[in-house]
Formats: sequence, C-alpha cells, structure tokens
Amino acid sequence: MCGIFGYIGGRDNALELAIQGLKKLEYRGYDSWGIAAPYSDGTETKLFVHKQVGKISEAKAIPDLPKTQLAIGHSRWATHGAVTNANAHPHWDEGRNLVLVHNGIFENYAELKTELEAAGSTFHTETDTEVAVQAIARKLQAGKDLRLAVHEVAERLTGRFAFVLFALGEERVIAVRNGAPLIVGIGKGENFIASDITPFLEYTNQVKYLDDGEMVELTATTAKFYDLRSGKEEEKRLVPIEWKVEDAEKGQFEHFMLKEIFEQKETIVRAITQDPREINELAELIKKARGVFLIGCGTAGKVAHISEYFFAAIAKRHVNFAPASEFALFHHFLRPETLIFAISQSGETADVLEALEVGKKVGSKLASLVNVQGSTIARMSDYSLLIKAGPEKAVASTKAATSQISLLLLLAYACAGQIETGQKLLMETAAKINDLLNPRYLEHIQEISERYRSATDIFIIGRGANYPLALEAAIKIQEVSYIHAEGFAGGELKHGPIALIQEGTPCLVLIGDDEAKPEILANAMELKARGAKIIGIAPERDPVFDDWMKVPLSGIASPIVNLIPIQLFAYALAVARGLDPDMPRNLAKSVTVK
Ligand code: AGP
Repeated sequence: MCGIFGYIGGRDNALELAIQGLKKLEYRGYDSWGIAAPYSDGTETKLFVHKQVGKISEAKAIPDLPKTQLAIGHSRWATHGAVTNANAHPHWDEGRNLVLVHNGIFENYAELKTELEAAGSTFHTETDTEVAVQAIARKLQAGKDLRLAVHEVAERLTGRFAFVLFALGEERVIAVRNGAPLIVGIGKGENFIASDITPFLEYTNQVKYLDDGEMVELTATTAKFYDLRSGKEEEKRLVPIEWKVEDAEKGQFEHFMLKEIFEQKETIVRAITQDPREINELAELIKKARGVFLIGCGTAGKVAHISEYFFAAIAKRHVNFAPASEFALFHHFLRPETLIFAISQSGETADVLEALEVGKKVGSKLASLVNVQGSTIARMSDYSLLIKAGPEKAVASTKAATSQISLLLLLAYACAGQIETGQKLLMETAAKINDLLNPRYLEHIQEISERYRSATDIFIIGRGANYPLALEAAIKIQEVSYIHAEGFAGGELKHGPIALIQEGTPCLVLIGDDEAKPEILANAMELKARGAKIIGIAPERDPVFDDWMKVPLSGIASPIVNLIPIQLFAYALAVARGLDPDMPRNLAKSVTVK
C-alpha cells in the first residue's frame, strides 16, 4: 500500500528524483513520507535523511539538498505504528549505516524483534520494518557481504512485502520482492526501482519485473536478479511499457478523478476494440470450465457481481461472483476444471492474489482482467486481458470500472457467439457516454450535489444488474465524500432497510432500461411515502423524482451509463464538502496487504 522509490546512476540530483518519484506514487499511501541518500561532504560519506508526516505534494521544498547519485524514498500507508515522524520511512540501523524502505507487512516481525532484543538490539519505532534493518545490520557486523546478509534475512521474513535498501560506502541498491510490487526501470547509465512504473516513465519505458521470492542488486550500469530460494542469478526479460508520461498527468483537470471520469469518452472504446480473437479465446475458457468464479475486491468486486447478470441474460450461463477476500473459504469445491476469473485494476490486490493462489494449489485455471501491464495478477494468470484504460491515479476507481463492465458484457456476448452484436451495442453506448460527458451535465450534477452536501446518510437502490451497481455507488460516495452511503436491492427494502428512511433522507434510485423498471419505481414510491428525497438516474423523468440525472437509453448496458452520473455525483459531493477526491483519508489506490 506504500510507495517505494530507488535510484542509482549518473545524475547527481538523486534526492530530487526521489521527491518527484514519490509525488507520482503518492496515491499508494499518503500519511507520511521520507527520503535518504549517502553524500560526500568533501571528506567523508555521510547520510542524509528527511522524513515528515503529511502528503509530499503539500510539503515545502527542502533547501540545499546534497548532491548524490543514489537515493531511496517512501510514501506511507501506515500498517504498524501510528502516523508519526519516527514511524515514517526510511528506517536505519543503530549505526546509521544501513537504510531501508518497505511496503507490505513482515508478519513474523514480533518473533524476530524478540530475538534481536535478546541479542542486544534497541528499537526506536513501532514499525515492523525496523526489524529487517536491524537483522541485516547484525549480519553485516558478523562480516557478511551485504547481498548475502539481505538474502538470509529475506528468507526468514514472512508475509507480503517488498523493500529497498542501501548501505553507506556501498555503490549499490538492493531490493527484495515477496508479494508486493517492485519494478526495475532500466536506463542508460542509471537504474530505477519503484512500486510501479509512473515515477520513472519520463526517464525510461524499459522495465524488468521482479517476481515473488526474488532479489535484485542495482548499480548505475548493472541490474542482477537472484532467486532467493536457489540463490542463483537469473536472466530477466526487458519489457517495453505502452503508457506515456502525460497519461499519468492531470492535464487541465483539477483532479485525477474528474480527468479519469472524462477519459471514459475514449477508454470504453479502447477496451472493446481489442482483437476479437483474444476475447473469444477467453470466452472459450469460460465455456469449457466446470464452475466459473468471478472474484474481485471493492469496485472490481462490484463489477464482477454486475457481470453475473450479463452472463445469465446473454450467455444463459451461471457464473458465481465471490468477494476475493472471502473466496479462500470456498476452496472445498475448487477443482482443475474450475475457472477463477479475477477482476483487478492494479493487478496487485493482496486479497485477489491470495484467492488465486488457493485456486492454483488445486490446479484450477486462472484468468484475469487487469489494467496494469505486467502486474502480478496478470503474470500469474493462465490467461489475462488488459482493459487498456491507461494509468488510473485517483483512489476512486472510475474509468477502469466502466472498461471492466464493458469487456465483461462483450465476453458474455462472445460466450453466446454474438461478439459483433455486443461490440455494436457497446460502440453505441460509448458514443452516448461521449455525449453525456460535457461541462453542462457536470454543472447539473454539481447543482444537485449542493442540495445534499450536508447529508449524513445516502441510500441507493437498484434491481437486476443495477443492484450491484447500487453497491458500487455506495463505495464511490463513501470513499470520496465520507457520507455514510449504502446500496440495496430494491426488493430488499421492505425487509428491513426502509426503517432507516425519515423525512428528507436522500435516496438514489438507479433505473435500467429493462423489465425491472416498474418495480424499482414502486420502491421509489415507498421511499417517498416515508419522506425520502428521490434522486432518479433514469432515461425518462418520473413524477416521483425530486432530482433527475438523465441517462441515455442503453438496454442491458444500463449499468455502464448509470455509473457516469454516480461517479460525477460522488465527485461533486467531495468537492462541495471541501475534500480531496483523489486521495481520500485512510485509503490507498492499490491494497497490497490483506
Ligand atoms: C475503488 O474505488 C477503490 N479504490 C477500491 O475499492 C478498489 O476497487 C479495490 O481496492 C480493488 O482494487 P483493484 O481493482 O486494483 O484490485
């Protein structure tokens, strides 16, 4: 969940590179940050460290950064230890010779800490991270070479983690990956390492991926990879990255969330105009499987849930949705003929990786839809398809969700042998969304959000595929506006939730262009009768609506078009409440811990 950055090379502004790199990684965790580097004061090599609580994007510039050609940095999402300067990374050993930044969790840190304290080590922070740096330092004091010392300690550490370190007086950076993402950017006379590619994309688009259980030793001109189990050096394939630097910039938009919502003018078309052979191949996997599980977390999970309705209605096929964080409990009936189909924007979500590992153990087939090229979920899948939405930086997932839903709808059509029909419907839907996404529509939704900006609760109802979409709407509103929002199946209201409704309670009603329309309008009436304010998302206005967000007619694709006003409404509520929609409190873009 944290962002890690490292540089070694010919440029002597490595600390500035680290600061700029962390700003690009901030969406991964933003409660505190820090940088460190060795530098020469003309007579000896010294250690420069700076760390502070808060967002690096809001931090003042650090005057007189020393010139250095090696630096590491970290942007934190706290797991162990409060958000304090002391607990911010980097962490170092008692001699201040070894400096380390870490993403993930060392699950067995308490046991190692006890051992180290018994051996005389003193700890200065509440973090699990400090255990690794102290343990490696002890190996160095025992005369071990740095790489060997790191190797031995890494083999003892358990959990999902990645860390990067340097030692004073050593012209190398060493990093280990075990369950959390790390990518090496190969430059000319320089090398970068980071949790994702965006911090070094402006310098190189040539990357090498670390796999779990691997270590890399970087110098300015070499990148040597080692398998931690065998200790053997390994060759790694150089992979060119398609994304461009500007894809990961805000451009003229005030927030990444709004930019990414408006990018849906192009992203849906990009998702559905991929090589139909690839989509048909995935459809064949689904058709051949005996039991298909669609899994994902958060928004990606809601997308998987929505697609259950598409496969039932179009492919006449039952697929099971399961929240990835719960999936391992279903291992009892997994078998080699089962297909586990993971949906994930980042391709690095720990709960999804854990679920796939459960399937892998019994030989089940693994497929995935991801947005990040070369991500772990893509590389561990038997078959993976990119949604091609480009970098998604805002924590709230928007363009990735509509691209995922569009591709799953197309897959359902492919399973029914009607891929052209699906493509035609989705191209029409994308064109309608293109018309929908304009400043006037945004203004209209901003006006509506002004009326509900001080709401304490917002309820969302839908039927059919718009029921899981109601659950997605709740996540969007929760995560950026901090308003308590909850989604329900329209038919479930009378079985309990309607008791929550009182005079003025805002209720978002999602209406599809489908047979469930009369029932969901009846549910809206029941809410209205108890004083609720009805905000209708629908192709036509209805008298029950207090506010109306018009959407185009779109048949079975209604969850895709209905998601646009939902995203804009959540965004507008956040801005109206003076909040930062891009980096909501307590969240991070890629959840790499369980
Ligand atoms: C969505 O807006 C959230 N950021 C979160 O629920 C997210 O969808 C979830 O963490 C899954 O992430 P993934 O798609 O990268 O696996």
